[in-house]
Amino acid sequence: MVAVHTMKHPRLLLQILLLILLAVSVLSWKKEEFRNCNQAPFCKRARSRKAGTCNLRASHVSISDGDLVAKLIPKEASSESEDPMKPLVLSISAYQDGIMRLKIDEDQTLHPPKKRFEVPDVIVDEFPSKRLWLQRLKEERIDEDSAVSSVIYLSDGYEGVLRHDPFEVFVREKENGKRVLSINSNGLFDFEQLRKKQEGEDWEERFRSHTDTRPYGPQSISFDVSFYGADHVYGIPERASSLALKPTRGPGVDEFSEPYRLFNLDVFEFLSDSPFGLYGSIPFMVSHGKARGSSGFFWLNAAEMQIDVLSSGWNSDDSSNQSLPLEEERIDTLWMSEAGIVDTFFFIGPGPKDVVRQYTSVTGTSSMPQLFAIAYHQCRWNYRDEDDVFNVDSKFDEHDIPYDVLWLDIEHTDGKKYFTWDRVLFPNPEEMQGKLASKGRHMVTIVDPHIKRDDSYYIHKEASQKGHYVKDATGKDYDGWCWPGSSSYIDVLNPEVRSWWADKYSLKNYVGSTPSLYIWNDMNEPSVFNGPEVSMPRDVLHLGGVEHRELHNAYGLYFHMATADGLFKRGDGKDRPFVLSRAHFAGSQRFGAVWTGDNTADWDQLKVSVPMILSHGITGMAFTGADVGGFFGNPEPELLLRWYQLGAYYPFFRGHAHHDTKRREPWLFGERNTELIREAIHIRYMYLPYFYTLFREANTSGIPVARPLWMEFPSDEKTFANDDALMIGSNLLVQGIFTERAKHVSVYLPGDQSWYDLRSGSAYSGGLTHKFEAMEDSIPAFQRAGSIIPRKDRFRRSSTQMENDPYTLVIALNSSHGAEGELYIDDGRSFDFLGGAYIHRRFIFSRGTLTSLNLAPSSATKKFSSDCTVERIIFVGLSSAGLKSALVVPGDKKLQIESGPLLLRAGAPSSALTIRKPNVRVADDWSIKIL
Ligand code: NOJ
Repeated sequence: MVAVHTMKHPRLLLQILLLILLAVSVLSWKKEEFRNCNQAPFCKRARSRKAGTCNLRASHVSISDGDLVAKLIPKEASSESEDPMKPLVLSISAYQDGIMRLKIDEDQTLHPPKKRFEVPDVIVDEFPSKRLWLQRLKEERIDEDSAVSSVIYLSDGYEGVLRHDPFEVFVREKENGKRVLSINSNGLFDFEQLRKKQEGEDWEERFRSHTDTRPYGPQSISFDVSFYGADHVYGIPERASSLALKPTRGPGVDEFSEPYRLFNLDVFEFLSDSPFGLYGSIPFMVSHGKARGSSGFFWLNAAEMQIDVLSSGWNSDDSSNQSLPLEEERIDTLWMSEAGIVDTFFFIGPGPKDVVRQYTSVTGTSSMPQLFAIAYHQCRWNYRDEDDVFNVDSKFDEHDIPYDVLWLDIEHTDGKKYFTWDRVLFPNPEEMQGKLASKGRHMVTIVDPHIKRDDSYYIHKEASQKGHYVKDATGKDYDGWCWPGSSSYIDVLNPEVRSWWADKYSLKNYVGSTPSLYIWNDMNEPSVFNGPEVSMPRDVLHLGGVEHRELHNAYGLYFHMATADGLFKRGDGKDRPFVLSRAHFAGSQRFGAVWTGDNTADWDQLKVSVPMILSHGITGMAFTGADVGGFFGNPEPELLLRWYQLGAYYPFFRGHAHHDTKRREPWLFGERNTELIREAIHIRYMYLPYFYTLFREANTSGIPVARPLWMEFPSDEKTFANDDALMIGSNLLVQGIFTERAKHVSVYLPGDQSWYDLRSGSAYSGGLTHKFEAMEDSIPAFQRAGSIIPRKDRFRRSSTQMENDPYTLVIALNSSHGAEGELYIDDGRSFDFLGGAYIHRRFIFSRGTLTSLNLAPSSATKKFSSDCTVERIIFVGLSSAGLKSALVVPGDKKLQIESGPLLLRAGAPSSALTIRKPNVRVADDWSIKIL
């Protein structure tokens, strides 16, 4: 798709044709275009190392400035080597809530050729203040023959241990000595020190037509990490694969299997089951097992990483297991990175939610989105022009389908120059946004990091004059190909560049933008069509001589950060930013949403969206979704419908499609399908109060909106490898339908309580797999017995128009006739909630009385009030026998109890009891007693 007026210029046309050719060559994913482990020498070397080859021991162990510090020195120095291994510096710090940090780097007093890169701005400012000041070091030797270990206090139940020789670090339970997590227990630790090039040595690396000059030579790091009492390991997104990570090496694994790769790449038509890394990298792994619960390990390192999950018996030929108690059930993993330092965090758990809380206390919790941002988004590459926009917008109204945001992809710009408009197609952008805003709707435009090298483009002019671009290995502005043709890339590692970029979003600078416009950052891996593996060469230079190889995986994070900051500044800090990013890294959750990139309209990709979203959730990224309908290809109406039905529960819910696909707005597939898609989207709007409450929970505690079943039912083994269902919060379980013309669908319902089918209101026992008839109008979804879920059931055009609507409370009783739930409300837009301007209620139903209690602190400096009322209370699991009325206190108003449906839909069975119009204010204390 090319903006029409550019066709007048033959040179431009040629460039565009070239670009299309390049793009097309990228547009068919071939394995050979990407490096595998064998083609990445650091990975090949690390993977071929035998267990027990680490030759380091800890010495000079002491406490200094509240940390344990030590040197790692070779056991016997090789006298022949001209460049012998120099001591490494190790430090271990303890933090509140059971977090241990282990750092290992070169000794700066020995003047290594270069300071290795430590990733800035990922650790949140508050984290350092949680450090415990270690005072005492306990030395211990289990028996005569065993090595000395230094033991530190970690928390009341846990200790950190540094075993000296051979060196090994682990966390153990204090009471029984059981290990939780350890590093180098298999002796695979290796740290390639920076050194001078020896004569005749060739450090260059070649891949296809690209040469990496590697001026600093080998500098990789690898080590093994063991998770004890673990049945499975999870996390390390982003990839399309099962939630529980399958072993990549060892008995039972294909010898050609690749490690899990963490390297942000623009991958065309990614496979549905592959260890290959996609657009984002979060080097955080969580373990879970019935015996111990959960633990977590995070390596703060932004260079290419590869991780092997080793199957049991992987090292059976090696007799070199250093110290591992053989009887311990554990999962061993091997972590390999091309550069950087060892900066690792051990999280003790012991529950899955504890691990996420601990991890997000280091990297931050998800930012609180505006209410509109968690509603439905309509996107397409591209909505052609203003008429197209207005037409799509009005069709949503005509078909009574709610939506909140309309998106404009790259074609809305003047020649892919971001912050500009194609004025032929979009002559009045402000007016256009205004029209949508008058219905409470918003727009999003795309802003990518590649800047068109065009002297008449003000951004390029400024960026080149100010020296804001990353430099190639020869010191010139790096020039690569992307959508606009020849492009340069701003150096977002530099805070000054980020601040300059952020200013570009001011209403004054971004001509044609209005306060209802928000941003989409795409291609920020960064994607470079003619670069190695469709990305930036590793020897490109950033601020302070940092090589791109050292920060590659964090480039997208910094770009996202600068954009979110821009929107923050644009609204004088009053308006919560919304920025969607494709590339991401640990910490991206603080800056907005991410999505899973260019998926395909097929059933397998619908299915894999569940583990992809769940993996993001457990690694801190609560606000995630997949393109509904599949980006590439044309979904059959049935697939599209099933995708909407599942997508309505994704934390980030957006329909999107490639420009080569047929139009697929919800009303294009006949009346029945329109009705069914409307219904699916409407479900999301009904549950917005529940989702918003969950987003607030993610914002305060890190616990994700969409959760794997085992996060809620950690001792139910049947949930551990479940890839098909997701928990939305603690109280809704949703299972996708992933096959065409499915007649039945089996759903495992965990726990020892019942579940209520949202459609029929019928109860099903937990702890069993149930077979349900696959319905056309919905996918299986259940409310947990013992829960209260707030909804807003009235039908509106957008979430903004629901602001003053009354609530429905759905009370699903457990076997002791009790239930509980929460509701969080604020203004949905500003940051006043940080000053306490919110309503937070707990609803408790017990002994026949529903009570609403305040959870918000009284010390708020800012206030939020709402006149919204509760217009309906629905009970499921309450026997109607003898129940006639309810008494509302205060006011002593008596109301009838009637029978009615759980979901207000034509033909829905009257399987629930309803109290209509109690009309109590949601902000007040009240109770309603069943008589
Ligand atoms: C790639 C993105 O993943 C896709 O969503 C977008 O439509 C295209 N770039 C064009 O901007």
